[in-house]
Amino acid sequence: MRIIVLGDIFGNPGRKIVKDSLPKLRELHQPDVIIANGENAAGGFGLTKKVAEELFDLGIDVITSGNHIWDKKEVYPYLQQEQRVLRPANYPPGVPGSYVHYLPVGTETLAVLSLTGRVFMGDFDCPFRKFDQLYGEMSQQTRHIVVDFHAEATSEKIAFGWHVDGRASLVVGTHTHVATADQRLLDRGTGYVTDLGMCGPMDGVLGVERQPVIQKFLTQLPNRFTVASGRSQLNGVLAELDRKGKTTEIFRLSDQENIV
Ligand SMILES: [Fe+2]
Ligand SMILES: [Fe+2]
Repeated sequence: MRIIVLGDIFGNPGRKIVKDSLPKLRELHQPDVIIANGENAAGGFGLTKKVAEELFDLGIDVITSGNHIWDKKEVYPYLQQEQRVLRPANYPPGVPGSYVHYLPVGTETLAVLSLTGRVFMGDFDCPFRKFDQLYGEMSQQTRHIVVDFHAEATSEKIAFGWHVDGRASLVVGTHTHVATADQRLLDRGTGYVTDLGMCGPMDGVLGVERQPVIQKFLTQLPNRFTVASGRSQLNGVLAELDRKGKTTEIFRLSDQENIV
């Protein structure tokens, strides 16, 4: 099973580079499944039904997310009805939305799970124990399990990768918007990367215009952030999973373009 996972799609520039690059990536790599993190897809902050449907129309099968999924209140009822859009599993009970999606892929099934880290993130339930708890249920259904681990601290992400090694097929980090170059196979067959990086503007600061961010650092005063213009980048990975749900190969995918 060949899977493409794309990092946080940021605003209109992110959606555009995904739209422009996907046909090329699809032709080159023939993926069976495309997963993308959509927490910043609507104007850089959150997701809406309209934007999610636009991403599904591009051929994305499952949309994962993170802390920014809640930014647009209109998404709450949509999360309740659309099982292909995931919010992290380890939020407190009663929070809307699903967090694991089972996707038929040929004769196999793929489970996609969204989790968030806690370090510099918030007081969530323990993602390590949450995975342990959900693994029983997921492993009844399939040996193919992809986890989007949405977290800030590299240590927490790497530790999580080792914790689930041999149980998850593939662990991809998201949230920092900066790609790491540590994609690899862990000892027991889990494909791993600390952060996919984002799909969005590359000349701002993590997706937003740079001047307001510089001003904020200089003055410590609050400021309004808007989606940056200029060049865009696409970041993600391509992973090949065998029948036993082990990753046999993982490669970084990246693309850049000018969209002034
Ligand atoms: Fe993000
Ligand atoms: Fe995030």
